[in-house]
Amino acid sequence: MDVAIKRMEKAVYNQPYNNLQELFVDYRNTKRCLPAFNVNDNYDLKAVVESAEELDTHVMVMTYPPVAELNTPEVFRSLVDGFKKQATNDIYLHLDHSTSVDLCKRAIDAGYDAVMIDGSQVNLEENIKMTKAVVDYANSAGVVVEAEIGKIMGRGVEVKSDNDFLADVGEVTRLYEETGVHLMAIGIGTAHGFTPTEPKIHFDRLGEIAEAIPIPLVLHGGTGIPDADIQRSIEMGMSKINIGTIVHTTYMKYALEEIQKAGDGAYPPYVMKEVLPKIKDVVKGRLRAVNFLQ
Ligand code: 13P
Repeated sequence: MDVAIKRMEKAVYNQPYNNLQELFVDYRNTKRCLPAFNVNDNYDLKAVVESAEELDTHVMVMTYPPVAELNTPEVFRSLVDGFKKQATNDIYLHLDHSTSVDLCKRAIDAGYDAVMIDGSQVNLEENIKMTKAVVDYANSAGVVVEAEIGKIMGRGVEVKSDNDFLADVGEVTRLYEETGVHLMAIGIGTAHGFTPTEPKIHFDRLGEIAEAIPIPLVLHGGTGIPDADIQRSIEMGMSKINIGTIVHTTYMKYALEEIQKAGDGAYPPYVMKEVLPKIKDVVKGRLRAVNFLQ
């Protein structure tokens, strides 16, 4: 994928912050973006952490609800803490796309740095109610909360017209003002996963939303978005980008290949030693785009 925009000044992606909220406020003001990767276990977590270290950048790792449920938020928190001991840059842990207020609370109790309460599938009033419940709980723990409005397409989210997925500026403003949420994921045309054609991003709507609310915006669907569109979005106020499918499909594809090669003798650490560099390649590709590196 082509990197269309080069930044003239050298931006720093590893400066120290007291907490994640402070990082996001600064990133929004200075048009930087925290790369956030969906991870599933200690192995893809290791690939993400090593990639971020090698490119000298802070990074976020995210667990989808099934990953958090299967491993428990406590175990995943400990895993990340283990990696943090070796890392020189920050690694933040986030719960991604939780539709459950209770799961958000469990992750907050376990010490997650951030959680997403996804109320995009319910009406605005209900979305506001869910989001406010999580924000109120999170604020006392200093945890960052992400809300969603509009829809990210793909994975069973069907849309018939632009109005089905595009975030409405008035609704975005209400969700922000009535909940005090810290980050906002907005539907602007991106989709989760690999898409048959390039997603058509509605930059005009992104511009209107960035004008309407001051908080960092979140770009979902990082697997299928061309580098140039990622960078244009960052220049317009996207301060966090989520990247998932390309990580786990690379993991599964090469693990399967290695397991088939080894047959009955397949042994996890030997398989994963071969798979890790493949995951790191795709992670680094995305990191370079997000951080405007050559
Ligand atoms: P992709 O799976 O398209 O990378 O999107 C990930 C995402 O947005 C998770 O919230």
